[in-house]
Amino acid sequence: MRHCYNSELVILSSHRQAWQQHSHFPAQALLLESHDTFLQGGADFAKRLDRIESGQGLQARQVQRFADRLASEFHQWQWSMRCHEKYEESTLYPFLRRRFDLDCGALALDHERLHELAARCETSLASAAKELKKGRSSFALARRDLQRYREELARHLIAEEGMVVPLLLSLTSAEFTGYLGAESCAQSE
Ligand SMILES: [Fe+2]
Ligand SMILES: [Fe+2]
Repeated sequence: MRHCYNSELVILSSHRQAWQQHSHFPAQALLLESHDTFLQGGADFAKRLDRIESGQGLQARQVQRFADRLASEFHQWQWSMRCHEKYEESTLYPFLRRRFDLDCGALALDHERLHELAARCETSLASAAKELKKGRSSFALARRDLQRYREELARHLIAEEGMVVPLLLSLTSAEFTGYLGAESCAQSE
């Protein structure tokens, strides 16, 4: 079976091409690096899950250890995702509302949906690891949940970048610097 783990990254780079000629790109295009890291993280989890499920070149003990680790690392990974979302909801979205009258409510709802899908992933990854201890290999649900999560994440990131990045690029350099100054104050609270 052939996998393309990075297809979301390819889609994202093609929708970003339009901005690359802008004189404020990449300096004022916030979010993109974090988004790349998140997509890469999702692809890495999918790759690791496939390797665990196939068991190729692994001893049973390693398969169990890797399965346990995958479940706990997915949970930890969500922490950095939540920090990013918190920054967006508490600082970036309100700024865009004030400056451009942009309603980012749909993006905040996406975050809620992603939390639900992430919770499903955590449950199914933990349960697959538990089943493995009983000698049963059942990763299908975890694979499906992870795939859904990755698809929803990519959809959200594309929508978010499409709404946010052109507006950030349209700011004068002085305005953008002013926003960054306010941003760091907000984060130190
Ligand atoms: Fe984001
Ligand atoms: Fe977001």
